[in-house]
Amino acid sequence: MNKIVILTGAGISAESGMGTFRDEGGLWAQHRIEDVATPEGFARNPALVQNFYNLRRVAAAEAKPNAAHEALARLQRDWPGEVVIVTQNVDALHEAGGATGVLHMHGTLAGALCAACGHRWPAPAEMAVGEPCPQCHGPMARPDVVWFGEMPYYMNLIYDHLASADLFAAIGTSGQVYPAAAFVQEANAAGAHTVELNLDPSAVVSDFAETRFGPASRTVPAWVDELLGV
Ligand code: APR
Repeated sequence: MNKIVILTGAGISAESGMGTFRDEGGLWAQHRIEDVATPEGFARNPALVQNFYNLRRVAAAEAKPNAAHEALARLQRDWPGEVVIVTQNVDALHEAGGATGVLHMHGTLAGALCAACGHRWPAPAEMAVGEPCPQCHGPMARPDVVWFGEMPYYMNLIYDHLASADLFAAIGTSGQVYPAAAFVQEANAAGAHTVELNLDPSAVVSDFAETRFGPASRTVPAWVDELLGV
């Protein structure tokens, strides 16, 4: 059991004060996905989209990593094999907690992308509509986050990791968004042991060999202690 692949979702950052999407009063109860998280929404009303991500960028910059983020960094440090963290989250709390090599499959709030020329650069705290691209100077700067209908990042690399995983854990994700929700099936096909650590059962809980329910700041450190034989 030496390669561990971990998928995280909004639930791991909930106790850091970052809103989740589908919990009571979550982000998708406050905003319509089609307005703020699709290319069509950005084309229709770029100011609404930039404002939505500016607010999340400010919240993410103020948030602190919690015991779950820190426990995963400890696992990466002390585990004798490879520990790969794939996150659907666009905050930088895994890195702030000490994790390395985190694969942000839905992009990051810290990144800016030019929709015209594909150039990437560090996003300012507040992105304005028509922000000029440093490379082509066009007005098509957008947050470097993956919207619905767009291809998530690092997919080939992620599938390679899943194919060679001995242990797969999904932490704080509702299992309602693909392709991430099917990673557990890839891990099962690779013969990995699979565990879900979540507040409530996800939509794909039946695909997991093991489940641990509770807040991530409690369940994740306990799980890591067990793995490390602490
Ligand atoms: N500890 C552990 N799990 C928690 C906690 C907590 N403190 N609080 C909430 N959760 C769980 C919820 O039970 C839920 O299953 O986290 C999950 C959050 O689910 P979502 O809000 O759907 O977030 P996520 O699964 O990350 O969404 C996936 O959907 O909208 C897109 O791009 C967006 O990356 C996001 C993707």
